[in-house]
Amino acid sequence: MGSDYNPLCYDRIGSISKDTMQSKVISILTAPGAPRYEGGEFADTLGRPLRDLRISVTDRCNFRCVYCMPRDVFGPDHAFLPHDELLSFEEIARVAAVFAGLGVKKIRLTGGEPLVRRDLHRLVGLLAQLPGIDLTLTTNGSLLAKHAKALKDAGLQRITVSLDSLDDKTFRAMNDAQYPVARVLDAIDVAAAAGLAPVKINMVVKRGVNDHQVVDMARHWRRTGHIVRFIEYMDVGSTNGWQMSEVVPAAEVVRRIGEHYPLETIDPAYPGEVAERWRYQDGAGEIGVISSVTQAFCRDCNRARLSTEGRLFTCLFAEGGHDLKTPLRGGASDAALRDQIVAIWRARGDRYSEIRTAETAKLRKVEMSYIGG
Ligand code: GTP
Ligand code: 5AD
Ligand code: SF4
Ligand code: SF4
Repeated sequence: MGSDYNPLCYDRIGSISKDTMQSKVISILTAPGAPRYEGGEFADTLGRPLRDLRISVTDRCNFRCVYCMPRDVFGPDHAFLPHDELLSFEEIARVAAVFAGLGVKKIRLTGGEPLVRRDLHRLVGLLAQLPGIDLTLTTNGSLLAKHAKALKDAGLQRITVSLDSLDDKTFRAMNDAQYPVARVLDAIDVAAAAGLAPVKINMVVKRGVNDHQVVDMARHWRRTGHIVRFIEYMDVGSTNGWQMSEVVPAAEVVRRIGEHYPLETIDPAYPGEVAERWRYQDGAGEIGVISSVTQAFCRDCNRARLSTEGRLFTCLFAEGGHDLKTPLRGGASDAALRDQIVAIWRARGDRYSEIRTAETAKLRKVEMSYIGG
């Protein structure tokens, strides 16, 4: 990083306005001397580079999906993070710029439900200033129709919508918030019309709950240009009561769909892609399967996760994260932040899905609603 680079020192912001702050961040992100790591390529202990940053912007959600935020745990008395614990948009943008300088090429905004965070398009606008970044967001779709245009205008490139069933009764039972499926379907149309296409549609498949919908889901989205991904139900967090018997292996999903619509594999779109891609032999489009349980993909895992309160997690199944907020708010320079992130990544040896057993499934791990998908 160039020594003339002017870091934002948050302990000296004082009372400057949000607009001034925003333009300051933008000018820093786009400055010729913006943070670039000059220490050469670096990798973790298993030789994996850092390419993907997933940023959780809130731990709150208006759904209570049974596999993620079971209502008996995330009830009315659940203590979510207080607002002053959350990183501000400017703080997030600053950390993201440091990550971009370290070789991150993709940023995904997640939650909880990211669109419950007010004015999220403002953060999108900041992140969209980072050159060469694939910028996307995962949402449950409930607030998407309202925000799609503002997100697109702010620079969001594409979107992923969670949709576990097309059958209203099953969908409402899974989101446990009585949210009707028709409104998510409408939101997907609005998002596509706004230019956030192709839309990716994530279906977590739980045996005996929604697996009877797998072929219907494939049929519904064929020839739309959108891409459904069937996700194996995972033992994330420690509240969803996961059992192996509820996992539908990706191979079974492919077989079931293939019996109706013959499929063939396609190459990954980029190294370390999470989904295994398949296309319909009749040219009706593609689907993906995400097989974290039956065929772990840790070997190529290049994903870091930043929590709402500024903790860096090096695995979706980690017990804890590394505090970046304290240095960030304590006036650390970008170079210092960068060095801290490089040291954390270099020490990383996570490969949870490869070593999962019935015992590890019971360990205390970070919740998906806190760290994002
Ligand atoms: P695209 O570039 O849009 O294809 O992104 P992606 O493949 O990373 O997809 P997405 O972020 O939508 O992730 C889909 C789902 O895969 C998540 O909701 C998780 O259930 C699972 N997943 C994503 N990343 C990981 C990971 O690092 N480990 C494990 N075990 N599961 C993951
Ligand atoms: N297993 C698999 N995926 C999950 N998600 C949340 N909880 C789980 C789980 N237990 C994913 C969903 C959703 C995203 C936000 O997180 O795919 O789309
Ligand atoms: Fe909310 Fe997404 Fe978790 Fe469902 S999976 S409870 S929509 S954060
Ligand atoms: Fe990466 Fe951890 Fe998921 Fe493995 S289990 S792919 S190391 S996030």
